[in-house]
Amino acid sequence: MDQTVKLTYNDKIYEFPLVEGTENEVGIDIKALRAQTGLVTLDPGFKNSGSCKSEITFLDGEKGELKYRGYSIDDLADGASFLEVAYLLIFGKLPTSDQLNKFQSDIHQESLVDEDLKAILKSFPRKAHPMGALASLTSALTAFNPESVDVDSEEDMYHAIVTIMAKFPVLCAWTHRKVKGLPLNYSSNDLNYVDNIAQMMFRMPNGTYTPSTTVNSALNKLLILHADHEQNCSTSTVRIVGSSHAGLFASVSAGISALWGPLHGGANQAVIEMLEAIKADGGDTKKYMAKAKDKNDPFRLMGFGHRVYKNFDPRARIIKVAADEVLNEMGIEDPILDIAKGLEQEALNDPYFVDRKLYPNVDFYSGIIYRAMGIPTEMFTVMFALGRLPGWIAQWREMRKNNEPIGRPRQIYTGEVDLTFVPLDKR
Ligand code: ACO
Repeated sequence: MDQTVKLTYNDKIYEFPLVEGTENEVGIDIKALRAQTGLVTLDPGFKNSGSCKSEITFLDGEKGELKYRGYSIDDLADGASFLEVAYLLIFGKLPTSDQLNKFQSDIHQESLVDEDLKAILKSFPRKAHPMGALASLTSALTAFNPESVDVDSEEDMYHAIVTIMAKFPVLCAWTHRKVKGLPLNYSSNDLNYVDNIAQMMFRMPNGTYTPSTTVNSALNKLLILHADHEQNCSTSTVRIVGSSHAGLFASVSAGISALWGPLHGGANQAVIEMLEAIKADGGDTKKYMAKAKDKNDPFRLMGFGHRVYKNFDPRARIIKVAADEVLNEMGIEDPILDIAKGLEQEALNDPYFVDRKLYPNVDFYSGIIYRAMGIPTEMFTVMFALGRLPGWIAQWREMRKNNEPIGRPRQIYTGEVDLTFVPLDKR
């Protein structure tokens, strides 16, 4: 792009180039700012700062659009399997049948997890939050798979990716079984990626397991919709940890910890907890709508609104349909779900929410589906992590292949200056 941006400072004019993305978004390239002017920028929360150029995911919050590698999320959720989407995100192109079969078969070969990892899981209290257990187990994968990855070797990279894609769902399923107090199931080489996750989570030791097409199809969609969301908090964490050349498993483990927070992946849990609180208080949705609109009340309608999407969250539109299908097929009658539907209808027709463009986000419906599937509330963020894994891998791989510098922000120091040290016995 030929245009530049001019900055006047100390009577001097500095020019900085603009950089334009393929979807026409424009940024100011300030790489030379500090070297030329001695200045840094201050942008808490990085609300205005791009940390990298990326070819993986594009989202337009105003239009409510989300695309992976140029494909719309609607088309992918409608026609692709989660493993195809994972391949697309990580390797940049939709796989051919042969490529997908090889990817699946290589994952099957790596799907055993060292038995000693079970001892680590067993040592956690039953009430431990499964996200803490998952972060620890993923970190432990580094100890059980200590080979360092030569990022310039496609073969090494591929092997590391296949290893974590294979073992991570086993760990997620095991945290679920631990929460439920059930024996741990192993991966099955006869099943595709998503069906395998479902059998590891739901197969009982004392009966015949019959997979539900509707449940597995909804799970496939949920995982696809969570697979990447450009430079969000956990993905930025994975990239910044990986930028120190920490390995893939260690970087993903850090991403899990970032995702855990209620301002990020933990919101789906908060939605169900809010619905349960409304039910316990008599189920009066109008009372809670009024609280959400009252500026003197800190209560917010969880699952509504989004920092980036100021139009309908495109993921929510897709998952709402899947939620209806799952609830209908399972014939679920749950007062919590009735409260959810009531709130949704009231909010969609209420000028407060309409004027502020506060629509239900993906977390509003994902929690409802997970609950209908019998997944405990504290497991919801683990389900998010399961879906987000390919995004974390793709972003880590892109960062390493581009040989990005170590992430190390600057600051503006606002502390004390030049104090005289006073020895302990004189203070
Ligand atoms: N309930 C009631 N009012 C709301 C809500 C809500 N859920 N969300 C925003 N508002 C109001 C604000 O009070 C504000 O009103 P005002 O203009 O009269 O002051 C206006 O809408 C704009 O709100 P902001 O906080 O400025 O919007 P922001 O973009 O900063 O926040 C956020 C987005 C954090 C998601 C917010 O909508 C929220 O707290 N939602 C509930 C939590 C939630 O569902 N989080 C999950 C997000 S999706 C995800 O992370 C995968």
